[in-house]
Amino acid sequence: MSTGSQIGRAVDRVDGHAKVTGAARYSAEQRPPGTTHAVLVVSEIAHGRVTDIDTSEALAVDGVLAVLTHHNLPRVAVEPRPIASLAGTTAHGQSFFPMQDERVHYAGQPVAMVVADTLERAEHAAELVGVTYALEPAVTTIEQGRDDAYEPERVFAGLAPGRVERGDVEAGLREADVVMERTCHLAANHHNPIETHAATAVWEDTRLTLYDTTQGPTATRLSVAELLGIAPSDVRVVSEFVGGSFGSKAMIHAHPTLAAMAAQHVRAPVTLSLNREQMFTGAGHREEQEHTLTLGAREDGTLTAIRHHKISPTSPFDDWAEPSIGPTAQLYACPNYEGVFRLVRANTMTPTFMRAPGEGSGVFALETAMDELAYELGVDPIELRLRNHADTDPGTGNPWSSKGLRECYERGAELFGWRLRDPIPGSRRDGNWLVGTGMASAIYPVYTPMSPQRARARVYADGRAVIETGSSDFGTGVGTIMAQVAAQALGVETEAVAVHYGDTELPNTVAAVGSAGSGAVSAAVHTAATALRDQLVGQALADPESPLHGADPAGVAVAEGRMFLRETPETGETYSDLLRRHMMFDADALGAWEPPAQDTGYGMATFGAQFAEVGVDPDLGLVRVRRLTGVFAPGRVLNRKTARSQLMGGMLWGVGQALLEATHMEPQQGRWANASLAEYLLPVNADAPDVEVEMIEVEDRVVNPLGVKGVGEVGQVGVAPAIANAVFHATGRRFHDLPITIESVLA
Ligand code: MOS
Repeated sequence: MSTGSQIGRAVDRVDGHAKVTGAARYSAEQRPPGTTHAVLVVSEIAHGRVTDIDTSEALAVDGVLAVLTHHNLPRVAVEPRPIASLAGTTAHGQSFFPMQDERVHYAGQPVAMVVADTLERAEHAAELVGVTYALEPAVTTIEQGRDDAYEPERVFAGLAPGRVERGDVEAGLREADVVMERTCHLAANHHNPIETHAATAVWEDTRLTLYDTTQGPTATRLSVAELLGIAPSDVRVVSEFVGGSFGSKAMIHAHPTLAAMAAQHVRAPVTLSLNREQMFTGAGHREEQEHTLTLGAREDGTLTAIRHHKISPTSPFDDWAEPSIGPTAQLYACPNYEGVFRLVRANTMTPTFMRAPGEGSGVFALETAMDELAYELGVDPIELRLRNHADTDPGTGNPWSSKGLRECYERGAELFGWRLRDPIPGSRRDGNWLVGTGMASAIYPVYTPMSPQRARARVYADGRAVIETGSSDFGTGVGTIMAQVAAQALGVETEAVAVHYGDTELPNTVAAVGSAGSGAVSAAVHTAATALRDQLVGQALADPESPLHGADPAGVAVAEGRMFLRETPETGETYSDLLRRHMMFDADALGAWEPPAQDTGYGMATFGAQFAEVGVDPDLGLVRVRRLTGVFAPGRVLNRKTARSQLMGGMLWGVGQALLEATHMEPQQGRWANASLAEYLLPVNADAPDVEVEMIEVEDRVVNPLGVKGVGEVGQVGVAPAIANAVFHATGRRFHDLPITIESVLA
């Protein structure tokens, strides 16, 4: 009678068909009648002043409607301030809005915007804008600013403290039998989703509709409204399809507001897209960073002290560093810990979230050092980690809401064949390839929202259902799990549920950031769909004409669109029968999930174990990843297919971090030297190894109603150190810097 669980099923993506057939319309493809096109002109210098802008030639181009510069662009109503939170607030990308005065703070800063009837004419005219600059010296790298580095009070848009301490690190190091200190350098990275950032702005009287590619339609609404000085309710943001993001579309950068300003100026809809080169200076990046990690351990491998210092460049405006010391404070039981950030004021835009911000970098420093420690002590790397397993949250002593890390090590070791490994470096060859294996732990925090998460559920008398939230789906599959969670609670088939999302007119959920999207949205959907089910069951119980009249609500179950008595399933009726009898075409309910208090009294994180096998050709300097195995414990899995894809994508992202991805700053010019997909190297299919992903479901009753901890980022964490550790095993050489390039292997 009752159907299998809708939750956990490997359901195909609800947006898949539209995407692969090209029917999906992205923000820059919206064409309201009379749409015009804006193109940005960006600064070629990293620091100084615009002394003159000659717009005459650009304005003379056929079809050009306007050239906006700091002379004629409206002033913003407030100075933006980045607030990163899951509270549903504004989320400005940096404390700076361009074209408000003549100052230039970073290369790539917008200095003019051309609007024309076609994109081609706007692009052509943009090249004719003549900008004259007065140059000032710029700082753009750690090396240039090291001597002036400072210790910030908070970093990461205020989310993380600048210093974390527990116990006494000096005392811990004195107790240690072995002390290791390692410095590693990580290259700056850029997100580069295939869909570049874009917004189409349409004004109708005083109301603005923005088609914006964003992780948080509400964040766009609030941020743009604040800058324009208009009511948020006068701004509607639609974000139905988003072509990737990886964190670059989490904060709201200048372009949607610029599009709205341009549309107001030319009194016509405006589409503004960043081009690929502008993607390197218009939407944040992962900062260049140097980590110095010190470990103290007893002979048996027990950690006595961890010290983690990081230095990185930030912008002139904000104290930004990704919170790399968080995971090193939390991963192992160690009584003495000190983590400190130092920042260099630099002429770049404010860095931003990038997939596993902090964990991706901090865990590299920690887990490569742990591997060195394992070799130093002659202990198996997994055994060393088990000896330091954190049974409680090391920072607070709180119990974990759920963990599963031991199971991940065990299952991963089994799948990967870890136990067969000869630990001696350089002991395995395959022709000219030196073959090695390595492992690392993965951790990613569980963030819970700070505001109620809302959804609306509806059933129609014809048997269909609809579920709605404002959340956007930037490639994660959140739309698909909406259908599954609603179907489960309503007792209907997933395929009978239509989903509507990506629109601020729909019930509000927070931005899908910090791997928290599926947790927040599933909780809202579960609450709304449960409320609707209870409402319909209640209506049946109260209805003398219903077979369920007067029954105990606790004894009623739902499946296949039918309410029935659990004990005597033949007693019951369908939603459709109930609705039709009451002359109702449909019924709906709004649900609001109130998240737990921010201090739940539990440590909350997702854990995993990563294993890599590499081949290194010492003559050619090549490192090829041959196999990856990742085992994760992400709480409840809502959709085995999309969750696996997310984790696999994260693992491949880790291959890029380990071996390819680097944005190089040209320090004289203060400009990114390889701002294109031709020169910013990413793994392609030919670089992709066999990837094995397994999920271990752990029950979590704390994080949200369904116990969903999220899979968007943890898959990336630990891959780069597993690869670097495998390279050591293959070659006997340690590489402390990322990416591990051909040049560094040959050096
Ligand atoms: Mo994620 S890097 O918080 O969008």
